[in-house]
Amino acid sequence: MLELKEVCFTIQKDGEPVHLVNKASLAVPRGHFMAIVGPSGCGKTTLLKTIAGLNPESEGSLWWDGRNLSEEGDLEPWEIGYVPQFSIAYDELTVDEAVEAATRLRVKSRNLEDLDQRIDRVLEETGLAPIADRHIKVLSGGQKRRLGLAMELVSDPKLLLCDEVTTGLDPRSEREIVHLLHDLSRNDGRTVILVTHSLAHLQLYDSILVNHEGSVAYHGPPGQLTHYFSVDDSEEVYPALAKQTGEEWQESWAKHRVAYYRKLERTRELHIETGVIKLPASEESTGEEDEQATKKKKKNKTAPLRLPSTFSQFGTLLTRRWKIFFRDRTQVLLQVAILLCFPILVTFFAERGKEPIKRLSDIPEENIVLELQSRVEVREDQIRVGAAVSGMIMFEVILLALMGSNNAAREVSGERKIMEKEKFSGVRPVSYLLSKLAFLTCLILAQSLWMAMFVEFFWQFSGSFVSHVSFLILVNASITAICLAISSIMKTPEQSSLLSIYLVGFQLPLSGAVLALPEFFENLTQPFVSAYWAWSGSIDALGGNIHTAVDVITETELSPGNICFFALCAQTMVGIIAAWMGMVRHQWDN
Ligand SMILES: Nc1ncnc2c1ncn2[C@@H]1O[C@H](COP(=O)(O)OP(=O)(O)OP(=O)(O)O)[C@@H](O)[C@H]1O
Ligand SMILES: [Mg+2]
Repeated sequence: MLELKEVCFTIQKDGEPVHLVNKASLAVPRGHFMAIVGPSGCGKTTLLKTIAGLNPESEGSLWWDGRNLSEEGDLEPWEIGYVPQFSIAYDELTVDEAVEAATRLRVKSRNLEDLDQRIDRVLEETGLAPIADRHIKVLSGGQKRRLGLAMELVSDPKLLLCDEVTTGLDPRSEREIVHLLHDLSRNDGRTVILVTHSLAHLQLYDSILVNHEGSVAYHGPPGQLTHYFSVDDSEEVYPALAKQTGEEWQESWAKHRVAYYRKLERTRELHIETGVIKLPASEESTGEEDEQATKKKKKNKTAPLRLPSTFSQFGTLLTRRWKIFFRDRTQVLLQVAILLCFPILVTFFAERGKEPIKRLSDIPEENIVLELQSRVEVREDQIRVGAAVSGMIMFEVILLALMGSNNAAREVSGERKIMEKEKFSGVRPVSYLLSKLAFLTCLILAQSLWMAMFVEFFWQFSGSFVSHVSFLILVNASITAICLAISSIMKTPEQSSLLSIYLVGFQLPLSGAVLALPEFFENLTQPFVSAYWAWSGSIDALGGNIHTAVDVITETELSPGNICFFALCAQTMVGIIAAWMGMVRHQWDN
């Protein structure tokens, strides 16, 4: 039995408390099929989210089978299924793959057979078995709603909450879904609550809850609905509701509640008589039957479900990420194009960087004129080569920063709702973070190594290739990590993309490699500019001659390689920690 006792969900608006759920009190027995109806904006979703534990109640208490959820903790993730108003599946996957991923993420299966059985059962139950191989992007609205249900049913939830899963469907599909939900409530005492605008198929529900301005205006048998609102037809309920405020309806409901609950209880007895809801054995039978029932119960009783391990969830998320990546052709083409074209752009500058620089030690000291002339030549060489090398390294660094931003800017924000839904279903944020890091690391390594090797082929670096590669990997990694953090903190993919582009756009001017910045400003910004550290570290890795040449053309001080290495590692770590904090944060509403 689910019970709400005087539950409020209150927000502050202009310093005043506003009750979006106002002292809701109701009781929903096991195996019950209930509809929450009401006009748009009356608070149906808010009430459903409060029941789910997504909106923490500010007053009152929620109970499940005599357990105070407010004090003893929420239901376990597998005990509750929540089908939200939005789609929770990736278009690139097939029905079968989506249900398999949902099962692997939510339920620890004993073996592959157990997993397959669970998936097959759910596909059969929701009527999706014949279209299991179909891609989600080609499914009809009704099929997508069934899929949403299937993904929740994998853990056999005892409480199934559905938000508007019939909205926008044609009458036939709507009828089919309501019938399906009705049937689901007739299994294993599963309570099903459906939020809907529609007042069709009322006879299928065990009870109807009418919500108005955050208050419960009615919760009773569907047959008594028109009587309670003194209307001839259920379609007239909404106009009748508008005649009073939510609080007024709540007051009058408080007076009639007990009488209507009795009627509801009688309806329930009807179910008991027809065998739909089974009472515990002790209430139904005696003696031998009792013993048999207990034995059967023991036999049927399966071990409680357990969540898969963090590592298992990580594996599922990573496999799914690669599948989605390879099926998104535009994404793959874009990645390949930037992977191949960006290094080519850099090599256009390689020729000038390859030119030798005369050394001062070659100058004959006794001839002052010759010495001065040679000094001028050395200086000219240094300016020419230094500018070319500095520009080329900075170009490499900026292009890798751009790749980093492209890698991660939408990685979390683009799928935030699905992630929040999956977190609610038991997926750990750390599994998410690890899967994102593993996926992005592959991109970073491919991009940075290819860039370094391609440019090396045309240029032949004078210094340590390994150090140079390390700085290229690190600049890509630090920008990727920071953009991942932006993506998990920002509310929309548009916001995170824009901010990530700005981040890259400011790298060049703030690095000081082109124009020296005022000293106080440089001291302030330099620690945060990844491009400066990668540029400076790479110049250091190229060796003394190049280092001196670049020193000649820039007023910005170059830092030793080990400090640059440390700064980039620190930025990457900060990005990862911020990304994790963003992922942990509850961000259901945006
Ligand atoms: N976290 C929140 N902060 C502020 N306002 C909120 C919050 N959640 C909901 N609301 C407001 O509460 C009201 C009820 O919203 P809710 O989404 O519950 O309505 P609904 O009955 O589900 O509407 P619909 O039928 O259109 O889906 C709306 O005015 C909404 O803007
Ligand atoms: Mg809603």
